[in-house]
Amino acid sequence: MNEVKPKSRDTETSPPQTTNERRGFLSSAAAITAAALGGLLGVGPLAIGLYATVMDPLRKKTTPQKAAGSAGATGAKEGYYFVAQIGELDSHVPRRFTIVADKIDAWNFMKDQPIGAVYMRMQGEQIECFHTTCPHAGCAVSYELESQAYLCPCHNSSFKVDGSKLEFSGSSNPSPRGLDALEVDVQGTNVFVKYEDYFTGRHDQVAK
Ligand code: FES
Repeated sequence: MNEVKPKSRDTETSPPQTTNERRGFLSSAAAITAAALGGLLGVGPLAIGLYATVMDPLRKKTTPQKAAGSAGATGAKEGYYFVAQIGELDSHVPRRFTIVADKIDAWNFMKDQPIGAVYMRMQGEQIECFHTTCPHAGCAVSYELESQAYLCPCHNSSFKVDGSKLEFSGSSNPSPRGLDALEVDVQGTNVFVKYEDYFTGRHDQVAK
């Protein structure tokens, strides 16, 4: 009589070896895919940020202009730009001068580019200098001879010739402060200005 051996419990419940291998392979592939995606998501933005920082052409740098033919103009202090010869300044009426500088970024060198403007006039022995940007919201003011005041065309801010706010009865002046005064340095007959841009919409004059 043939003996019938009972099947072991392990033999009944364990899946076949090939199924286990397939599951192991699939879970490994999923782990590798997840790791790759994680790497891309984590490192990608970092790499893009680094690239943008290094290659961004907007990281423009300006260098002080050297006035052609004027030996003294080469002595500009850090942050100062040549504006004019002192003989060009009027003792009463402010004159508008464009600030010109060489611009350099990662890829380009652009010589003599306008980077801003100022109004200047003589006041006794002193030179008065104001930024042309309206402190309200950044439009350009212009000096009006007739009213002897700086006027902004955007929202009607106006300023006295000394840069302080001008208040008319019956109208409001939206500018939070007077015109931004700039430091001036004179070397020989050359006039330099410490040209900076300032935040608009604030009561205090804070450089950007
Ligand atoms: S920007 Fe000059 S008044 Fe508004």
